[in-house]
Amino acid sequence: MELQKPRGTRDFLFEEMKERKYVEGTLRGVFETYGYQEIKTPLFEDLSLFTLKSGEGIMEQIYHFKDKGGRDLALRPELTAPVARLYINQLQKVPKPIKMYYFGSCFRYERPQAGRFRQFWQLGCELIGGKSPDAEGEVIAMAAHSLEKIGLTDFEIHIGDLGIIRGILNQAQLEDQDQIMALIDKGDVEELKSCLERVETDQKYKDILLNLIGVQGHREVMEEVREILEDYPDASKSLQELERLLDVLESFGFSNYVVNLGIARGLDYYSGTVFEIYVHGLGAQKQISGGGTYNLIEVFGGEKVESTGFAFGFDRVMEALKQQKSTLPLAKTVEVFVAPVSPEMKFKSFEIADKLRKEGIATETDLAGRKFKKLLSHANNLGARYVVLVGARDLEQGHVTIKDMDSSLQEQVALEEVVNLLVSKIRR
Ligand code: HAM
Repeated sequence: MELQKPRGTRDFLFEEMKERKYVEGTLRGVFETYGYQEIKTPLFEDLSLFTLKSGEGIMEQIYHFKDKGGRDLALRPELTAPVARLYINQLQKVPKPIKMYYFGSCFRYERPQAGRFRQFWQLGCELIGGKSPDAEGEVIAMAAHSLEKIGLTDFEIHIGDLGIIRGILNQAQLEDQDQIMALIDKGDVEELKSCLERVETDQKYKDILLNLIGVQGHREVMEEVREILEDYPDASKSLQELERLLDVLESFGFSNYVVNLGIARGLDYYSGTVFEIYVHGLGAQKQISGGGTYNLIEVFGGEKVESTGFAFGFDRVMEALKQQKSTLPLAKTVEVFVAPVSPEMKFKSFEIADKLRKEGIATETDLAGRKFKKLLSHANNLGARYVVLVGARDLEQGHVTIKDMDSSLQEQVALEEVVNLLVSKIRR
């Protein structure tokens, strides 16, 4: 029987893990400079946490199961609902705003394809108790800053406000708004048109809706939208809020956004500002991040508190970097290889390796009893920058030899100086 990993899951090997850790660490670093602190929540939660308000799309994709005690549980498909639960359980009394970030896997039963997995990772944040539009502006600026910091250049941040479309839907007194929002989120205009044909309302609402979801551009599109929305007070109010958000964003130093009123988001808990980040080169899975302002805490029975956040689809961010052919500044796995010239030199080699490691230098030595002739090529394969040759004759005179694998130059060094010398060469 051949054992296989489940569909839609992946194993990660050494190089890939190094790249992922580098990007994860860099993104964490940016989040922390904005005052976010890390939290961790369980991989599984009560199923009801995700069925209350996450929306139809998520429901179909949930991995749920009964445990031995008959409880209905679910592997988390995302982390906003768990963070809202955590907030209600433990953080309601903590001074606001509260800034939290997380990195962890999520599970969705989807049809696996490039960039779409059944287990994937999100690195995201939630800002609870900040005031709109300043909180949203800072969150979006942080998303942009994060991507700039990892060297991604080809991304676009699209920003919208659900209040604009919802304002029209409410004024038109349309029922089944969720279905319309889901079609807008899918970007399926034809299906949306035929859905609208079936609903009974004044044609002007349908026209305006189809018109709005096509609006995309920089700040100049706002003027045009303002005119379209003249007779729609709720939608106009949301448009003004969007304008204020753009002012905030620009003062945080980010002005390269795209206003996109066709963003509806797949999850049902969003209530105002929404945004998505695209890398077009990724094709169908171009959305590397999504987020916005939501009302989940209220839905879960907590007090009304403004909350906003977003999550990077970490696997897609990695894919985008790969596609952009970015070379990441990764640390070497092995800096120094300590090579015993003869078997009797083994213990001395271990001793030197131990001292180097305690100085924080990544060091390997021979654990496979290789002949000396093979050791140099082994050290080379490992990518070691320096090899310490530990030979009996050298040792008698209190020396070892250091070989620089780049230049092939060798130098004799007093045994008591070898560690300091290598530390200074490597840290230089
Ligand atoms: P989401 O848009 O459902 O939002 O997911 C966030 C990101 O996770 C997506 O933009 C995408 O890059 C990535 N993603 C989603 N599904 C998959 C998959 N099957 N395989 C690989 N990547 C995937 C949320 O989950 C919200 N909780 C974000 C948020 C935080 N909103 C407010 N705060």
